Amino acid sequence: MSAVSSRVVRFHETGEPGDVLREERTEIPDPPSGTVRVRVLATGLNPADWELCRGFMPGTLPRGIGCDVAGVVDAIGADTDPGRGTGRDAVKVGDTVFGTADFAGQPSAGAADVAVLNGWAQVPDGLDPIRAATLPMVVQTAAWTLELMGLEPGHTLLVHGAGGMVGYAAVQLALRQGARVIATAGPTFAADLEGFGAHVTGYGEGMPERVRALTGGESVDLVLDAPRPSPGTLPDLIALAGGDPKRVVTISNHAEARELGARVNIDELRPGLTPLDVLLPEYASLAAEGAFRLPIAQSYPLSQWRDAMALSLSGHPHGKVVLLPALDGPTA
Ligand SMILES: NC(=O)c1ccc[n+]([C@@H]2O[C@H](COP(=O)([O-])OP(=O)(O)OC[C@H]3O[C@@H](n4cnc5c(N)ncnc54)[C@H](OP(=O)(O)O)[C@@H]3O)[C@@H](O)[C@H]2O)c1
Repeated sequence: MSAVSSRVVRFHETGEPGDVLREERTEIPDPPSGTVRVRVLATGLNPADWELCRGFMPGTLPRGIGCDVAGVVDAIGADTDPGRGTGRDAVKVGDTVFGTADFAGQPSAGAADVAVLNGWAQVPDGLDPIRAATLPMVVQTAAWTLELMGLEPGHTLLVHGAGGMVGYAAVQLALRQGARVIATAGPTFAADLEGFGAHVTGYGEGMPERVRALTGGESVDLVLDAPRPSPGTLPDLIALAGGDPKRVVTISNHAEARELGARVNIDELRPGLTPLDVLLPEYASLAAEGAFRLPIAQSYPLSQWRDAMALSLSGHPHGKVVLLPALDGPTA
């Protein structure tokens, strides 16, 4: 093994992403123990990437963006368990894997030609690595949040903001778990969500009345608040849950939820939730079979990362935004 040269998109000080992010070249060292290094094929971007730039989860700088990655393994850290303790699907150099970039432990992440992953699984036959790169954060957030909410078969769940990718995933997961799902979303994905089996209505003006029309005036059992930050809706969502704020969990309107006594998913993350090492292969298999999917809004060569950032920061990307370093990188 030896260090390899890579383009990286990263920040040396915190601030607005457009001000602090820059593309530069650096050496990516041998992967530390517990990690693998990949030649990046695709990196799925998330709103969290921009929050990292703004100072969320502070740590040593510089730091990279791009937490969700698919790539070809080019080195495995010494003493790394290539099967991640699962006893299956151990990886070797040359395998195509997907997983999570070690954004906190390394000075660069997935928006790069080369990245170090601290969580991974094989990309199964039948799944395009680009699609695999869209899965980790969305699947983890949707699965863990429904788990900590205590969703059970037969529950009626309202997913507010199901046109966002976490909400879109949560609808599919909840339906698989036997829940009845009502979803609010814009027109882009309304037909998709109905196709999965959800009852769909628009968000915005008149949403509470439209949801009540769908429930026949009954309260819903649980609410997942999943849009981009959009203060002002939680009181309506709590009312739809029979006035009980503890039946409402948000992933994005944190301060308002805490004020109103509603729940915030990251406040309740705990050991014992289904490990990512289990979720990644499970949802990759489902995606390969066509039983789980996330739409891609647009893919960009790495050099066009500013365009990708602008689409995501618009708040309405309508699907996953993906970088493809291999398109204009050293392996192109
Ligand atoms: N706490 C956690 O663990 C965690 C983890 C991941 C993400 N998050 C947060 O969760 C939020 C969603 O993430 P994501 O990856 O799903 O984002 P995303 O896919 O980028 O969501 C964008 C979509 O949300 C919909 N939307 C925008 N404004 C809305 C509003 N006011 N009401 C309802 N829907 C609206 C739009 O779809 P349509 O108009 O087509 O419906 C838009 O295309 C972000 O704020 C993110 O930071 C939190």
